[in-house]
Amino acid sequence: MKEFVINQTKTIKLSLESFLRLRDFIYEKSGIFFPENKLYLLENRLNRRIRELDIDSFEEYISYLKRLPSQTEELRNIYNQITINETYFFRYEKQLEVFGNKLIQEVIERRIAEGKKKINIWSSASSSGEELYTIAMILKEKLGRKLDELKFDLTGTDISARILENAQKGIYSSNSFRSNMNDYYKTKYFIQNGQKYQLKDEIRQMAKFNFLNLNDVSAVRRMRGVDFLFCRNVLIYFDLSIKKKVVRSFYDVLNHGGYLFLGEAESLHGISSAFKVVHFPGVFVYWKE
Ligand SMILES: C[S@@+](CC[C@H](N)C(=O)[O-])C[C@H]1O[C@@H](n2cnc3c(N)ncnc32)[C@H](O)[C@@H]1O
Repeated sequence: MKEFVINQTKTIKLSLESFLRLRDFIYEKSGIFFPENKLYLLENRLNRRIRELDIDSFEEYISYLKRLPSQTEELRNIYNQITINETYFFRYEKQLEVFGNKLIQEVIERRIAEGKKKINIWSSASSSGEELYTIAMILKEKLGRKLDELKFDLTGTDISARILENAQKGIYSSNSFRSNMNDYYKTKYFIQNGQKYQLKDEIRQMAKFNFLNLNDVSAVRRMRGVDFLFCRNVLIYFDLSIKKKVVRSFYDVLNHGGYLFLGEAESLHGISSAFKVVHFPGVFVYWKE
């Protein structure tokens, strides 16, 4: 009779006490807040990392973390595991239409009138790049040759270094094409390779990606002179005090006349009244006067 060896790796359990210590630590560093009903999520997501380190318990892992002379690298490992990177091309299309059909022209005209030729666009929780590359495709389509007359700086940042590597590669599965994204874009700007879609270099090279923790105010401040700031579907992971802090620093780095875009179900209600709300059919955006 054949013998089967069943590989049963036992889950390392996270007690409530250790969960609270760990989540407070993660909150202090990243602003990401895990309520108690997310205990199993943290337990699950960090199990592999703890095993990799040959550590037997969360208690030991927390002591290890606190003893590290620099926690930067281990924190990045944690962020790689705990973040939710859900995104897709042309997400919240109505808002992107407002950007492509109206606001981009308006800001270009103003920049030219001011004698400036550079437009800075920042996708501040870019995940694997779909948001920023969508913007790049829209610019390519809407501006054509004007793109060469002005300088467009497209920067994507995220707290997960792992997901940023994916953004840089620009290789996607059908999961990234969930919206009603016009097949026109898929055919024009991607090369299909089996089940994968490689974004063409003409779009990939328009964008760059860097690590940035939105809870780090001095890092946010270094993003000066932003004309369009996309902060979509990330504020939900922060509590009110972090939301206020992040949005205050967004206000500071935006140029006058610059726009802030939030996710479809998000608003600045109760967070900031510094921006002017600009309404379009089915869409509103935030404007720094
Ligand atoms: C749900 S995705 C949203 C992606 C994209 N903006 C969209 O709307 O489709 C949220 C992203 O926020 C990032 N994130 C979470 N906390 C962050 C922080 N403190 N600083 C920067 N990025 C963060 C996550 O790594 C994740 O990739």
